Amino acid sequence: MSSSPPETVGGARCPVSAVAGRFDPFTPEYQLDPAATLREARASEPVFYSPELDHWVVSRYKDIRTVFQDNRRFSASNALDPITPLSDGAREQLGRYGFAPGPVLVNEDEPLHRRRRRELAPPLAAEEVNKLEGRIRELVTGYVDRFVGRGRADLIDDLLWEVPAIVGLLVAGVPDEDIDRARHYTIKMGMFTWGKASDEHQLEIADQVGRWWELSGELVDRLKRDGGEGWVPTAIDVHRRDPELVNDNHLQNMMMSGLVAAHETTTNAAANALRHLLTQRSPWDALCADPSAIPNAVEECLRYSPSVLCWRRRARTDVEIGGVTIPEGAAVLLVMASGNHDEEVFDEPDTLDITRPNAKRHLTFGIGSHSCIGAPLARLELRIILEELTRRLPHLRLVDGQDFGYLPNASFHGPRHLLVEWDPQANPVAADRG
Ligand code: HEM
Repeated sequence: MSSSPPETVGGARCPVSAVAGRFDPFTPEYQLDPAATLREARASEPVFYSPELDHWVVSRYKDIRTVFQDNRRFSASNALDPITPLSDGAREQLGRYGFAPGPVLVNEDEPLHRRRRRELAPPLAAEEVNKLEGRIRELVTGYVDRFVGRGRADLIDDLLWEVPAIVGLLVAGVPDEDIDRARHYTIKMGMFTWGKASDEHQLEIADQVGRWWELSGELVDRLKRDGGEGWVPTAIDVHRRDPELVNDNHLQNMMMSGLVAAHETTTNAAANALRHLLTQRSPWDALCADPSAIPNAVEECLRYSPSVLCWRRRARTDVEIGGVTIPEGAAVLLVMASGNHDEEVFDEPDTLDITRPNAKRHLTFGIGSHSCIGAPLARLELRIILEELTRRLPHLRLVDGQDFGYLPNASFHGPRHLLVEWDPQANPVAADRG
């Protein structure tokens, strides 16, 4: 297999393989079924250079896992770099808001990352977030109450956009009186980091990112003044003890990017799960009949259609992966959506099987020292959303012929709308029929 980096001859790229030439994560085919677009790559050219992206693409489960686990030869420093370079206008716009985030866990390397993670992770541990189960269920119930008698809803606008935003704010420690204001600011930052937006759309996103950065600073100042409980207040305590380990920029960035990490990822995960469960119907009916199957179904949906399709690393040295030498300094794209459909690990990987015994082996939360610390919270939210919808609206169905409206985005993946309908007279809970 080739190990040479691509060459440029007379300004033109040297022809790359057909597999590499065809790979474009901004096409509708990729948005529809990312794993399928890399099926051939998994079989015949599992690691290749994409000139379109200037990234080395890794498609097989075991290679993705190897890179995630090797923080000596791979740096996480490029994790939040915009994949599409920002226009000058967008940069200027961000400058007006004083937008200047430094590194924040996800794009830090060892040994600093380990020290910070040890201090900052405890509030997101499963035993801590599980204490929020009652609060999250109450929140979901309140949203479902508003539309259960209507017979028609857009599950994104009516439920899935706001719930993870509010839960994220709660966990961050934002007081109730500020949550209502802050939830309107939460933004589709996935487009900023992973999208291919037009110049005009970039300006719009830059404006939202700038405002959210500013508000994040305000929320941190308020928590410093008034105190609180949660992820950011814990970080404020660390800051007071060790201001070099966690400085003011870090706190502001934790508030901003923590919310992004907690919000859109979970909204999209729930939307993808519901879309596929309802499309295929029999797994949905099985969950309605036996809700104890929901936790494994959550894992299977995260495997089958992840909300974060890929993640990034940068090679710190020449390094061989899957028989290919990735050169020092090169950016690497780990396509978890592809690894999750690798038949060497998952039998009949393209089937959504909610009883799959090894569903939890998916790569969707990453693996290794940077693996997602919000996974217990995301799992809890997804379980509660599925429990409440299967209990109160088992007869829910997708509206035929709808356009799910995926945006051109290499990683953050979820429908913009999810239209559903049902007969309210057939609601199984008597109080929901009134
Ligand atoms: C379904 C929902 C979610 C998905 C698919 C997801 C996915 C990911 C991925 C792929 C990574 C990078 C792993 C790596 O670099 O090895 C990550 C890291 C991270 N996630 Fe999540 N995430 C989700 C929800 C959340 C939530 C709810 C929170 C916060 C409450 C959160 C906070 C974080 C943080 C702080 C990191 C950085 C950890 C580190 O670098 O040490 N995530 N997540």
